Amino acid sequence: MNTCVVGLQWGDEGKGKIVDIFSGTADIVVRYSGGANAGHSVVRSADEEVFALHLLPSGILRENTLCLITNGVVLDAEIILSELAGLAKRGIDVGGNLKISGRAHLVMEYHKKQDRLSEEALGAKKIGTTIRGIGPCYSDKVIRSTALRVADLLHLDRLRERLERIVEQKNRYFAALYNDNEPLSVDVLFSQCEKWAEALKDKIVDTTAILHRAWKEKKSILFEGAQGSLLDLDHGTFPFVTSSNCCALGLGPAAGVPTTIVDRFVGVVKAYTSRVGAGPFPTEQDNETGQYIRDKGHEYGTTTGRPRRCGWFDAVAVDYSARIGGITELALLHLDTFSGLKELQICTAYKYKGEKLDFFPAEADVLDEVECVYETMPGFDEDLTGATSFDDLPSAAQNYIKRLEEILSLPIKTVGVGPGREQTLNR
Ligand code: GDP
Ligand code: IMO
Ligand code: MG
Repeated sequence: MNTCVVGLQWGDEGKGKIVDIFSGTADIVVRYSGGANAGHSVVRSADEEVFALHLLPSGILRENTLCLITNGVVLDAEIILSELAGLAKRGIDVGGNLKISGRAHLVMEYHKKQDRLSEEALGAKKIGTTIRGIGPCYSDKVIRSTALRVADLLHLDRLRERLERIVEQKNRYFAALYNDNEPLSVDVLFSQCEKWAEALKDKIVDTTAILHRAWKEKKSILFEGAQGSLLDLDHGTFPFVTSSNCCALGLGPAAGVPTTIVDRFVGVVKAYTSRVGAGPFPTEQDNETGQYIRDKGHEYGTTTGRPRRCGWFDAVAVDYSARIGGITELALLHLDTFSGLKELQICTAYKYKGEKLDFFPAEADVLDEVECVYETMPGFDEDLTGATSFDDLPSAAQNYIKRLEEILSLPIKTVGVGPGREQTLNR
C-alpha cells in the first residue's frame, strides 16, 4: 500500500504528525518537494519536546524506516546538517536511514540573499516568503546554467568552475538590481560546499532507482507532501504561493514515479484554516475569534515563528484542492482547538459581485473580494484532548465532522484532538 499525505489548505495542516503516525507501517518515507520553508512538527509523547523538521522526512524518528529526499526538493545542506546534529544530540542516530537524490538542487547563501532583497524591494507588496531562498533556487533550476545540484558535491573541481561563473553573474545581478555591492566570495561558498560534500557524500544516491526497486518489491511507500495545495505554483493563489507544485499532482515529477503507484491520497486539513505570509484568505477572522484560535491552537510558524492568520474552515477551497489532488480521504486535525467556541462556521460558497461562483477563482484579486456564505453549527465546551475514540467526542464535534464529510463527499478517517501521537482517532 502506497500513501501520499498532502496539505489541502495553505500549509501547516499537521502533515508532520500524520506522516509520523503513518510511518509506523511504512518501509520508506519520501520527502519530494519544497525545501526548508516547510516546518513539520512531530510530537512523539506529551513529556517529550517537539521535533521541528524542515527537510528531514517525518519518518526519520523510526528506527527501521528508510527516508528519501528526492529530486524535487531544494536542499539547504546547512539545515540538513543542523537537523541531523539536533537528532544526534537527542540520541537519535539516523545512520544509513537517510538518502538524498543527486538530482535535488542546492540552496546557496546567495539564494537566501536574493529572496530577502526581493522581498525588501517589494515592500508592502511582498509575498511574505520564508526567506529560505526557495524561489531563487527553483528559478535557477529552471534557468539551468546558474543551478547547482546535490550530485555536483561529488565532483568538486567541476563545481568550483561552475560556482566561479555563477558568482560573477550573481554579483552583477545584485549590484544592478538592488545596488548591493558586497561581492559574494567564491572561496567562502566553495569551502561550504566542501564541508557539505564531506558530510553528505555517503548519502547521495539515485532515489528514483531506489523507489522503482521498492515499487517492484511491493514495499510500502509513504510520500510526505510539503506546504499546502493552495500554495501550489500553478493551482494555488498565485502570486501568493510557493515555487513548487506542492499539491498532490506534483508528486510524479518530484519523485520520479507515476502518481498511479499511490493507492491512497490523504488530504490533511485543520478544523479551521490558517495561513502565514500574504495573500487572499476569504474566511480569515481578523478579530477575537481568530485570536482565540491562534492562542488555543498555538498558531505560530514552525519555520519563522510568525503568528499565523486564522479563520473558519473554507469548504470551497478544500473541495477545490481535494479535487485537484485526487484525494481519497481526509485527516481532520486540531478539532480540540475549537473547544470553548459557542458557534462554528463553515464557508460553503463564495459570492462575487452578488453572484454565486461555481468554482474556486483563479485570480488572487477576485478571491480577495469574494463574500463567504457560511453555514453555522453549534460549538462545544468539552476538552477533547483526552478522547480516544469518535464515540468519546461530544455530539456537536461529531456532527461537525459528519457535516464536513457530507459537504466534501470524502470520508474523514483520522481526527486530531491534540499534537501527540496518541491524540489521534481512527475512524
Ligand atoms: P505541517 O507543516 O503540516 O507538518 O504542520 P506544522 O507542524 O507546521 O503545524 C501543525 C501544528 O499543529 C504543530 O504544532 C502540531 O504539533 C500541531 N498539531 C497537529 N495536530 C494537532 C491536533 O490535532 N491538535 C492540536 N492542538 N495540535 C495539533
Ligand atoms: P509546511 O510544509 C505554511 C508560504 C510562505 C509564503 C509563501 C511563499 O510547513 O506546511 P516561500 O518561502 O515558499 O517562497 O514562501 O508560502 N509557505 C508556507 N506556509 N507552511 C509551509 O510549509 C510553507 N511553505 C511556504 O509563508 O506565504
Ligand atoms: Mg509547517
